Amino acid sequence: MQAFIVYAHPSEDSFTRHIRDSFMAGLESSGHSYIISDLYKMNFKSDISEAEYLREAHYRREVSVPADVIAEHEKINSSDAIVFIFPLFWSDAPAKLVGWFNRVWTFGFAYGENRSMKQLEKGLVLCSAGNTMEYFHHTGILNALEKVMLEDRLFDRVKSKELIIMDGTSRENPLREQNWDDHLERAFQAGAGILGGL
Ligand SMILES: Cc1cc2nc3c(=O)[nH]c(=O)nc-3n(C[C@H](O)[C@H](O)[C@H](O)COP(=O)(O)O)c2cc1C
Repeated sequence: MQAFIVYAHPSEDSFTRHIRDSFMAGLESSGHSYIISDLYKMNFKSDISEAEYLREAHYRREVSVPADVIAEHEKINSSDAIVFIFPLFWSDAPAKLVGWFNRVWTFGFAYGENRSMKQLEKGLVLCSAGNTMEYFHHTGILNALEKVMLEDRLFDRVKSKELIIMDGTSRENPLREQNWDDHLERAFQAGAGILGGL
């Protein structure tokens, strides 16, 4: 079975890079394959153009979808799971990934009648974050992330979905080193178990 990883971090000198690598190692350990869109490395265009906006806002299927967006559609429809790996930036995904949703979730593909996006078996969100889980709970930010990433962006486009936050990973936080191995083991296990018995 194949996972499609949508990865968004601007630097290889990061903890998130290790999450990605451990997750991929977990997938491989279970015999799963993957394809990856590394959005910064690809220089993925995250601003929606006026033509794209007019298509999405006016539900006009006849306006063509750009080739780079079609390439993402094809990656999705050739996969069984979709996995987003990114650092939390101002309580959301990096703008690059938010822009990916703006452009890739097109009318006729991800929403609207007779949409052509395949319903995937699993949607997984792996997010690194400087703050602690306790903070995310008491501020309501965890709830907001679940609402936006799982309920809105993934919605019924996947059969099952999960958000995992690797917390306390800012560089100045001693928890970063302390929890390093546990977080990466969790990422590995998420990869190994993602498609269960499929
Ligand atoms: C621009 C920017 C905004 C950030 N905003 C948040 C935030 O809102 N909440 C949070 O918990 N961490 C925030 N962080 C911390 C990142 O999530 C942090 O980079 C990550 O957890 C550590 O992993 P890394 O080494 O992969 O960057 C922010 C970091 C940057 C650079």
